[in-house]
Amino acid sequence: MAKINQNYLQLQGSYLFAEVARRRNKFISENPNAQVISLGIGDVTRPLPEAVVKSLHDSVDEMAEANTFRGYGPEQGYEFLINAIIENDYKARGIELKTSEVFVSDGSKCDVGNIQEIFSADSIVAVQDPVYPVYVDTNVMAGRSGAFDKEKNQYSNIVYLTCNKENGFVPELPKSKVDIIYLCYPNNPTGMTLSKEELKKWVDYARSNKCVILYDSAYEAYIQEDDVPRSIYEIEGAKEVAIEFRSFSKTAGFTGTRCAYTVVPKELLAYDEDGNSVPLNDLWNRRQTTKFNGVSYITQKGAAAIYSEQGKAQIASLVDYYMTNAKIIREGVASLGIEVFGGVNAPYIWLKTPNGLGSWEFFDKLLTEANIVGTPGVGFGQAGQGYFRLTAFGSRENTEKAVERLSKLQF
Ligand code: MLT
Repeated sequence: MAKINQNYLQLQGSYLFAEVARRRNKFISENPNAQVISLGIGDVTRPLPEAVVKSLHDSVDEMAEANTFRGYGPEQGYEFLINAIIENDYKARGIELKTSEVFVSDGSKCDVGNIQEIFSADSIVAVQDPVYPVYVDTNVMAGRSGAFDKEKNQYSNIVYLTCNKENGFVPELPKSKVDIIYLCYPNNPTGMTLSKEELKKWVDYARSNKCVILYDSAYEAYIQEDDVPRSIYEIEGAKEVAIEFRSFSKTAGFTGTRCAYTVVPKELLAYDEDGNSVPLNDLWNRRQTTKFNGVSYITQKGAAAIYSEQGKAQIASLVDYYMTNAKIIREGVASLGIEVFGGVNAPYIWLKTPNGLGSWEFFDKLLTEANIVGTPGVGFGQAGQGYFRLTAFGSRENTEKAVERLSKLQF
């Protein structure tokens, strides 16, 4: 008899963005004439930068010729891309990395979901609340969550680090022992950031407590302010305790093209049952070489083009486009007397729902009365109740239209 992985039965409802899409599609099928504007899932809408497109075309041509055709590539990624990443994303900021410390992949969602496999099944996991649901759900699937407490809307074995307007969206250090800490900055969903001093507290904590920080930095390209850390490795000692995840999805419009990378420093250690240290780089390398055959040559060539002079300029203008949308949403929402957070160093705007409306109530109101889809804050965790997320990834026209529609709503 084939038995299921029982842990899957602990998962709550459906995946957040699938539920948002289900409700949107139901509304559209019942109201076929409604002009629905989607500012829900953070999916980009601008086309790929020209430099990327040219590089993709050129590499397709290479694959069409017998003397330049390629089969399997290195599971860790081609050196031309890894070296470009190291030179531009790290060395330019004073961070030294070795080629063997960077692993190219087909997306940060997969990497942040898969990374937990290399840790013990009894690890205690800490997440920010609200949180990108993949961190929680993949640990539930692996049996680390404990039972779901319906009243608290939380899993009993996961440590939740509350981020709300009362604490300025800066989580406190855990009060109980934890082994693995997920941090996401610029934050999804709140759009908020940590200062260097705040981030240093986490690195110091992880060093003193032999924890590992899983640092999701998928929105790094959106940082506008100089004093916001772009990489956790800007903090002294972070290479001993942190894995960093970066993505081309939001940086270069790769949500449909798929390319990302993960940095696992050689210094980073965790421990076996007898307390002996083991380099996590070796384990991740073993995992990837066994379960992953690398990102296509064509895609990696496309990604590498963002580091050319034209590529850099085109990406800067892409980021600028979305951050102008963020400003339009931020200012538009604030002008309605609604409290608004984020959207300054991130493409997400996190707002406090007016008149104490619950997150899903606000979702329904926006969908039915203004035909706007956003993401309910409570879908990211209990601390997100009474908050709502809008993305800046829509077209300019839709962003402006959405703000205008919002201004006509009665709250
Ligand atoms: C989001 O909307 O939070 C993101 O698009 C999710 C993702 O990147 O997987």
